[in-house]
Amino acid sequence: MIRLAPADTPVTLDRRIQGQFAEHLGRCIYEGIWVGRDSEIANKNGIRTDVVQALRHIQVPLVRWPGGCFADEYHWLKGVGPERQPMVNTHWGGVVEPNEFGTHEYFDLVNQLDAEAYICGNVGSGTVAEMHDWVEYMTLDSTAPMAELRKHHGREQPWKLEWFGVGNESWGCGGNMLPLHYANLYRQYQTYVRQYGPERVARIACGPNAEDYEWTEVLMARAGGHMDGLSLHYYTLPTTDWSAKGAATGFDEYGWHETLRQTRRMDELVTAHSRIMDRHDPHKRVALVIDEWGTWYDVEEGTNPGFLYQQNTQRDAMVAAINLNIFHRHADRVRMTNIAQMVNVLQSMILTDGASMITTPTYHVFDLYRDHQDAEYVPTPAGALGPDGELTVSRKGDDWTISAANTSLERELPAEFELPRGVGELLRAQLLGSDAPDSHNTFDQPDAVSLADLAVRVDGGRVSFTLPPHAVATVRVRLG
Ligand code: AHR
Repeated sequence: MIRLAPADTPVTLDRRIQGQFAEHLGRCIYEGIWVGRDSEIANKNGIRTDVVQALRHIQVPLVRWPGGCFADEYHWLKGVGPERQPMVNTHWGGVVEPNEFGTHEYFDLVNQLDAEAYICGNVGSGTVAEMHDWVEYMTLDSTAPMAELRKHHGREQPWKLEWFGVGNESWGCGGNMLPLHYANLYRQYQTYVRQYGPERVARIACGPNAEDYEWTEVLMARAGGHMDGLSLHYYTLPTTDWSAKGAATGFDEYGWHETLRQTRRMDELVTAHSRIMDRHDPHKRVALVIDEWGTWYDVEEGTNPGFLYQQNTQRDAMVAAINLNIFHRHADRVRMTNIAQMVNVLQSMILTDGASMITTPTYHVFDLYRDHQDAEYVPTPAGALGPDGELTVSRKGDDWTISAANTSLERELPAEFELPRGVGELLRAQLLGSDAPDSHNTFDQPDAVSLADLAVRVDGGRVSFTLPPHAVATVRVRLG
């Protein structure tokens, strides 16, 4: 029995922990989101209505764009106005990027989603002036040249830009820089991310790759005072070998457990990077922003290796639940994350095939977790549900939400909780179970893995239920 009580020092689970990432990569933007105004696929201003509707349901709080590695090759002026200038997307398959989806279309997307904007700027191959002009174009309300250009392109009012990333993976695809070099460039570039409107644009510095602790140390020491967030990228692979990652489906028992073990490394990374940040920023002003995470497998057979298209199974659902639980445990420092990526790339919410669209097991986990957005974290002892259990509990006043997962492939997991008062109403009880660990949705069987009702016993303040093997569930109750 797990006794639940509010924390002595309450911490909010920032809704941005459930943020998304959409890059100009493969079929994420083109087909996955953007089909164009003349498409036969239902759309609003060229953006797919089925995809927007599905994403609104899981309350996407923000979308990071345009990359990824693409961000440091992106020149925003080519993607505004009536004459778009194509470019080669060298990172991702060498295909021609038409630049049909640019700044205006991105803000239309986040507005349709009712989400915040998080734009990643180009440090690797762009200039300070280019970044400065882009921020002016997006946020300045005046008759200055960039604001006039925006109006000329049909948008009178500036947009609300909440977050701006100064480069992506500057230690790798974003310029192969050393930490001190990037720290200097960061200080310089962020100076020109001006505040034109009533609200400040929060700045996120490129942070480390996985366990590169030197990067965090140098960035925090030399530039920590100039940033609102420092990013961290860590992907889950089923092996440690990038050249033979393994398939998204058809894995064995070892593939299940090893993938979950690799996922749990996130806790170690967040703990160690936070420790460094704590030394430089004891009041936790700077957020640790895990703006790329998720599973990365071999691409599906017969697809372009540069498009990173992969299936998504119940194993991915478990990876999502474990990661979200880790982020919640560190919510005093982790205040935004962005799963990679939203549609058709890596660990996606949604897969499309022409006009068809399906949601993935990972999507359903985000559905199960949406009630934790901006809720108060309720601490539970480590390993409270035993070695197979995974847990997040939160509350919004008298509404308490319990999300639990069973990582065992064979055993059921009983879960029993005692709340501070009697339960007045059962608000939600849903289970994401599956026939097999690698069950997944296909265009022929779109609901092979989907949410079902969960049987819950309520007795006064006691709430109990049983999780089948490899399952995730959410129970939400209102105290009487
Ligand atoms: O998400 C795919 C790629 O992974 C991103 O473009 C890059 O930032 C990372 O290496």
